[in-house]
Amino acid sequence: MASQTTCIEHKISSKQFAKLAENHGTPFFLYDADAINGRIRLILDSFEHLVKVFYAVKANPNLELLRSVRDTADGLDISSGGELEQSVLAGFNMANLSFAGPAKKTEELVLAIERGVGCISIESIRELIEAVEIAKQVGVKASITIRINPLLMVRSFGMKMGGKPIQFGIDEESLSPVLKIIQENTKYLDFQGIHIYAGSQCFDVSGIVAGVENILRIADEIEAGTGLICKKINLGGGFGVSHGDQNHELDIEALAKKLVPILREFHSASAVEREIIFELGRFLTADAGIYVTRVISSKESRGKTFFMVDGGLHHHLAAAGLFGTALRSNYPTHNLSRPEAPLICCSMAGPSCNPTDLLGIDIKLPRPEHGDLIGILKSGSYGFTASPLLFLGRQTPTELILHDGKIVLGRRSRTIIDFN
Ligand SMILES: Cc1ncc(COP(=O)(O)O)c(C=O)c1O
Repeated sequence: MASQTTCIEHKISSKQFAKLAENHGTPFFLYDADAINGRIRLILDSFEHLVKVFYAVKANPNLELLRSVRDTADGLDISSGGELEQSVLAGFNMANLSFAGPAKKTEELVLAIERGVGCISIESIRELIEAVEIAKQVGVKASITIRINPLLMVRSFGMKMGGKPIQFGIDEESLSPVLKIIQENTKYLDFQGIHIYAGSQCFDVSGIVAGVENILRIADEIEAGTGLICKKINLGGGFGVSHGDQNHELDIEALAKKLVPILREFHSASAVEREIIFELGRFLTADAGIYVTRVISSKESRGKTFFMVDGGLHHHLAAAGLFGTALRSNYPTHNLSRPEAPLICCSMAGPSCNPTDLLGIDIKLPRPEHGDLIGILKSGSYGFTASPLLFLGRQTPTELILHDGKIVLGRRSRTIIDFN
């Protein structure tokens, strides 16, 4: 079985980082598409190809990156009309898209139906009724899954997105009228199956297994009660991967050992061919990205050492601990220019006027000099597009992609003027 960990900083030398900074300026993100493809294959192989892997675009929507995973990922999980358009540009087959989101606009539903998105994950009665109306008008059947908010809450998800009152999906106990509408509108709706996304950042194998067993039970019950067939079952994912210094992540080998027999039995008990899907974001991408920033200045303040860098929360909100984290932890940080220097305890501050703009607090780092390049690891997910890029009018970072051993430009830097 392939290794679970991938280390971009071991593939690129200090000299190469210096060259990239010279050619593209700083800060920049570098994403290792080869590593992401390796992670997708790890999941496919570990689960003996009983599951499909959809790449969650929200984790990292860079177009070049999407193109680089097109031949490995079975499909994409998208959340907006914008991500749909990006998927078209990346060359994905629309049939292999799952479109979730609790507030899809009418124009987004029209786009998804016209383009033939394979799973429009319906999250409310309003979306269902609107899908029927649109399908009537455009003369194309809407291909839908129902996103369900299950009664079961799996407590081991760091961020829980089901099993409680929540804006996502249709409550399990309220499914009957929804299924009735589907049965009455088979002329306009192509029912594909169900979707449950229980949450993010789960490190507990038994929690994921309990969630999967629950979804398969719900699928069985829907089929027994209605005669509808769940050809596609989107299990969600939420596979945990730590962003902090500890190299902690969900144990895929242990998960596969428990889930493979369950999935095998489910597949063999059914008369129809099923697609069982995991939609994964950070588990595929987090480790595969590095954010590179340059030391501009330094100072002592009341016994603490600060290094000020040209990158910060405006590019990487998550590294400053401000995106979707309950407890802040430092991302692993390396001095790429001077890895052998003696260690110093210091904080790494970004250029903004906000005191939360700290990419590292009391971290131990080979003592940087002005001009050194600092690499923030585990930066492949929820970075560029999950940050207030235009805050204070600094340039956006360049994004670079390592694919088939070569580094190519993924997206050029832009100024605030470009957005006027
Ligand atoms: C519906 C859905 N799918 C997939 C994901 C990806 O989650 P993660 O990056 O934790 O794998 C999310 C995250 O919010 C989501 O809401």
